[in-house]
Amino acid sequence: MSKKTYVLVGTGGRAEFFYGAIASQFRETSELLAFCDINTVRMDYSNRILKEKYDYPQVKTYTSDRFDDMIHELKPDCVIVTSVDRTHHLYIIRAMELGCDVITEKPMTTDAVKCQEIIDAVERTGRNVRVSFNYRYAPHHTKIRELIEDGTIGDVTSVHFEWLLNTKHGADYFRRWHRDKRNGGGLLVHKSTHHFDLVNFWIGSQPETVFAMGDMLFYGRENAEKRGVTKFYDRATGNPNAKGDPFALTLDDNEHLKAMYLDAEVEDGYRRDQSVFSDGISIEDTMSVTVRYKSRALLTYSLNAYLPWEGYRIAFNGTKGRIEANVVEQSYVNSGGDKALEGALQGANILVFPMFGEAYKAEFEEAEGGHGGGDPVLLNDLFGEPVDDRFNRAANHIDGARSILTGIAANISIAQGRAVKVDELVRMPK
Ligand SMILES: NC(=O)c1ccc[n+]([C@@H]2O[C@H](COP(=O)([O-])OP(=O)(O)OC[C@H]3O[C@@H](n4cnc5c(N)ncnc54)[C@H](O)[C@@H]3O)[C@@H](O)[C@H]2O)c1
Repeated sequence: MSKKTYVLVGTGGRAEFFYGAIASQFRETSELLAFCDINTVRMDYSNRILKEKYDYPQVKTYTSDRFDDMIHELKPDCVIVTSVDRTHHLYIIRAMELGCDVITEKPMTTDAVKCQEIIDAVERTGRNVRVSFNYRYAPHHTKIRELIEDGTIGDVTSVHFEWLLNTKHGADYFRRWHRDKRNGGGLLVHKSTHHFDLVNFWIGSQPETVFAMGDMLFYGRENAEKRGVTKFYDRATGNPNAKGDPFALTLDDNEHLKAMYLDAEVEDGYRRDQSVFSDGISIEDTMSVTVRYKSRALLTYSLNAYLPWEGYRIAFNGTKGRIEANVVEQSYVNSGGDKALEGALQGANILVFPMFGEAYKAEFEEAEGGHGGGDPVLLNDLFGEPVDDRFNRAANHIDGARSILTGIAANISIAQGRAVKVDELVRMPK
């Protein structure tokens, strides 16, 4: 069997999830040909990891201005996009125009215009886009889909969903490029794309109308000043003012973070260790969203990024009962430790309350691995032998679009103080 060939754009923290899989358990089916990034230090470091950790041959490296050359020279079957969110559409679209399929990290993109461009490019080229929604594959998430699909609580009428990011992982978005809303669309797009995708997947419907409010009430210099903080700094590494700040992340005492970010700064000036209490943050840390779905179900959703634990609580109300789920996840600093434990499941329980019967606990097999155990199953779906999936968990560009449109509509709603109709944002294919 001939191997499927890949190139990867964006060799930062998330990239190893994909190239490490190709270089290890999927060697028989897949081959990595090249890296592409704006930063050659980071590409060289990724090649070092390939060699030292996976004993895999070095791959070619191309700076991002040579993306077309890379495709013309290597003719890969598929481009994996793991770059900064605001650049995803550039590579997704160009890859398809040059005849490749695409696997992209979430969020597929950050605003409605770019989303439309991707949808149009798929129509024009006939190529495939996969969005790597790992959370769908976590066994407890698939179980909720199964319960709802099987009619356990009848038709879902409303959903109450609260997601908690804690002071470790939640704070990390305020140190990195995500702190600038132009880069990732804010947490309602960058992070909530996972959560809104899950709701679409769970209830089998799509968002119709969105109303949202959001604010920054904890991070940022002004909020810290109000709490009496007087010592400030721009970046933590090498700054004495950062000592004693539980939110400070220094790069020189973590070998991996140093090699990937600190040593690479000379080329792009990107600082991964910014203070969460410095100026210049343009994303919200406290968000609340109301959604009406096409099925007429209503969602109330909240996301906070500075809480004492990480995970979520959700309740689905239906015409025949109610499902409640409580999930605790392992917190992490992005790429700061064992990647397999990023967002690993700490505990989950799903309770079913039939309208007139005894409540019971729904059983499922807990899985190991990142993102609630979804990461390893997703990898098998991407790079392994095809398997039938009753739950259709493989997400395409339409799923990718629907999952970001709730957040994109929420951003418009926050800015304009009005309810936003999702169908007015993009034209879906007929
Ligand atoms: N599914 C998940 O659970 C999950 C987890 C983490 C990250 N991600 C996604 O992975 C992507 C990368 O995130 P990360 O944490 O690795 O960030 P990162 O900052 O570690 O890496 C981003 C990389 O993109 C590169 N880049 C920046 N501008 C570029 C350009 N114009 N062209 C090409 N490359 C460019 C940077 O140099 C860097 O190497 C994001 O889209 C993020 O949402 C997904």
